Amino acid sequence: MRMYDIIAKKRDGGELTPEELRFFIDGYVGGRIPDYQASALMMAIYFRGMTEGETAALTMRMAESGEMVDLSSIDGVKVDKHSTGGVGDKTTLVISPIAASLGVRVAKMSGRGLGHTGGTVDKMESIPGLRTSLDRKTFFEIVRKVGVCVIGQSGNLVPADKKLYALRDVTATVESIPLIATSIMSKKIAAGSDRILLDVKTGSGAFMKTVEDSVRLARAMVSIGERVGRRTVALITDMDRPLGRAVGNALEICEVCETLKGRGPSDLTAVCVELAASMLCLAGKGELDACRAMAIRQIANGEAFAKLKEMVAAQGGDTSVLDDNTKFPRAKVTREVLAREEGFLYAVDTEQVGIASVELGAGREKKEDAVDFSAGILLRKKVGDRVKRGEPMATLCSASEERCKQAEQILERAVVIQSNRPDAVPAVHARVTKDGVEYYE
Ligand code: URA
Repeated sequence: MRMYDIIAKKRDGGELTPEELRFFIDGYVGGRIPDYQASALMMAIYFRGMTEGETAALTMRMAESGEMVDLSSIDGVKVDKHSTGGVGDKTTLVISPIAASLGVRVAKMSGRGLGHTGGTVDKMESIPGLRTSLDRKTFFEIVRKVGVCVIGQSGNLVPADKKLYALRDVTATVESIPLIATSIMSKKIAAGSDRILLDVKTGSGAFMKTVEDSVRLARAMVSIGERVGRRTVALITDMDRPLGRAVGNALEICEVCETLKGRGPSDLTAVCVELAASMLCLAGKGELDACRAMAIRQIANGEAFAKLKEMVAAQGGDTSVLDDNTKFPRAKVTREVLAREEGFLYAVDTEQVGIASVELGAGREKKEDAVDFSAGILLRKKVGDRVKRGEPMATLCSASEERCKQAEQILERAVVIQSNRPDAVPAVHARVTKDGVEYYE
């Protein structure tokens, strides 16, 4: 087999066989196929696309390029969850305890924030003492005992994706639905869970800006999961506005606690109930409506919050900050962003809100950057709210006045105030399963 022929076949619109895809992945990871040939293939795929069969075969070979986590020693159905990333997205820390409080096993590896989107691992590490770097044995023991454990990505998981993603990043081939789908699903499959819930964000703060593109990505990922024997469901959820009111690590943990105590913002609560319901449904706990009711009940009866505390304690974290959020370290400087005019908050450029939070110190532009856990933004006004001139729109939290000033300028450009109220947007746009797409609008 020759890499030249594989590139030419895809360039001419042919369908690659599993053997050809294996030859490519093994050769590329093994250093026998050079970057220039891999780039040419990525560009051919970008233009020609891939069939569902090719996408599934490529995903499996990528997943098998490194360690495949084996969760079979943990009893029960293991359900994983992945979000394509957003601003204020703290759903993992709400829905995983809900699911675990009903006996579902959640053995989850999460990422750190990069660019305008936050990461679950950073949010968790804002809890004093909590460890997200655990060896496999401890990770498994906590899942067995508590039902849920969330750690940072560790081990040699999917080296093929690490190499290919870095290549796609510099060859303008990231924005390909089959390549994004294989990249995400290879990591989920290697992480070992039986069932996979995908939260595909859509809108100005998301990777996918339109519902149409988000559905295309979701369909591609659901098809991969089902073809390789992992039941997979995707929800398309709104990221045209930040989720909830808190953006920034410790601030988001406080909002997680409020939501699990039944006092969370309505948009965040609605998204979490839908995600938790789909997670429970995937785990075989019942029909979707019954699972929705179960999720709501686990919040109301306090069992989901108790499960979060159990997980935090098992990972070495100080649970007293969860009971009393005022114990979290406070930001040195706070500053109110005031409305410059009267009307309705009509729209927010959500990506810019994420960028403003990075400016405050809540995120990182480069992998090596340190994060200030107390930094972030509390949104006083949400899209659709009436605003009076001079009223606080947001509170900025940071270590310096200078950072607050920079973030304020970004936020002022990010909001649109108009005299008319915007149309209401659903928190969840669609649900994608192997049977098709159900739109919620
Ligand atoms: N996120 C991923 O993990 N992979 C992609 O290709 C794009 C986004």
